[in-house]
Amino acid sequence: MNTIISVIGAGTMGSGIAQVAVTYGCQVNIIDSFPEALENSQSKLKYILSRLVEKGKINNEQFKSILDRIHWTANMDEISNSNMVIEAIVENLEIKQDLFLQMEPMVSDECILATNTSSLSVEKIASVCKLKNRIMGIHFFNPVPLMKLVEIVPTKELNKKYLLDVEATLKGWGKSVVTAKDTPGFIVNRVARPYYGEALRIYEEGIADFATIDWAMKEFGGFRMGPFELMDYIGNDINYSATKSVYDGTNHDPRYKPSATQKKMMDEGFLGRKSGRGYFDYSDSADNPEPKRDEKLGKKIFIRVLSMLINAAADALNEPIATRDDIDTAMTAGVNYPKGLLKWADDIGLNTPLAQLKDLHTQSGDDRYIASPLLEKMAVSNSTFYA
Ligand code: NAI
Repeated sequence: MNTIISVIGAGTMGSGIAQVAVTYGCQVNIIDSFPEALENSQSKLKYILSRLVEKGKINNEQFKSILDRIHWTANMDEISNSNMVIEAIVENLEIKQDLFLQMEPMVSDECILATNTSSLSVEKIASVCKLKNRIMGIHFFNPVPLMKLVEIVPTKELNKKYLLDVEATLKGWGKSVVTAKDTPGFIVNRVARPYYGEALRIYEEGIADFATIDWAMKEFGGFRMGPFELMDYIGNDINYSATKSVYDGTNHDPRYKPSATQKKMMDEGFLGRKSGRGYFDYSDSADNPEPKRDEKLGKKIFIRVLSMLINAAADALNEPIATRDDIDTAMTAGVNYPKGLLKWADDIGLNTPLAQLKDLHTQSGDDRYIASPLLEKMAVSNSTFYA
């Protein structure tokens, strides 16, 4: 199924989704209202494919057949014979709703309509349509060809058959697929918030500097990147707005409160790698500080951040935003965590994060440290997330 895929929006995400779909044999239309975006997308894909030929990953015949199967156009009418349309346009509710309104009468009733939104409610986007049983969120991660995780976000009226079809299609594209409830940040963008937020809080309390906190998370947690180098990589503007949208979407849950430090960095233009400077300096003459390699301090930092991450994962399971397995898969396949957080909780014992949270709550009086009721209940009864 889904041999004809239309992707609306030829930007970073749309081009990546189109590349994956066409590589796995689909016929792909990629549509954008801006000719420049179409030209960029086309020349970028040609460049990527020619590099793959040079590296011997695909041959000339495959290069040609991939390009034969993909069609860049500004004409929306071309979506009419699609099996699935995935929208990856600007992140704005009204504009996305307008697009869904426009698409609905143009396609067959069996055509799946999907949004790649990362922060809007899929239900709200779908609300403007008459036929909602084929609308869902399909949330890819950037860069799409490299990131294995895809979060599917079903709407309440979604026909289960379409969910299963899409799951099978995405698995056929080599993706790890999880299902998430239509809640702010879905799984990854919500559960990962403390990685940044608690690291910023530790810095704000004067416990350690950026380099030391990064070192602690890599040295004792096995994370590939420390929180500050990762925020610099993502961009402080993007990372701040992801936090703010989860905070706003959860009725200002104190756990997700945006950091004043990060806002200041953003407002002053210290966005990270893309602006040459964030928490670290990326210029040629950069003289970034070395971490303070103090084992006791490092372990303290690591266990504090990990406890907050485990609490967010336990809370996601408690709601439930997703199943235990999907929460763990999302964090390993979506953000390369060395271990699923619920599995990690079992390994260190649930009383470890619980005691840490209780200590932090007593010391600070800040409700961001309130333990998830599920974590508390399970720790008290000596249970584990995995049997
Ligand atoms: P982008 O800015 O690179 O691309 C958006 C494209 O949509 C542009 O080429 C623009 O010309 C086009 N566009 C805007 N309005 C349009 C319309 N009405 N009709 C047709 N084309 C239109 O944005 P990006 O980063 O690719 O994001 C797209 C969507 O994917 C957003 O909803 C975003 O939240 C989501 N997303 C982004 C991720 C990221 O890391 N960049 C990760 C996961 C989801």
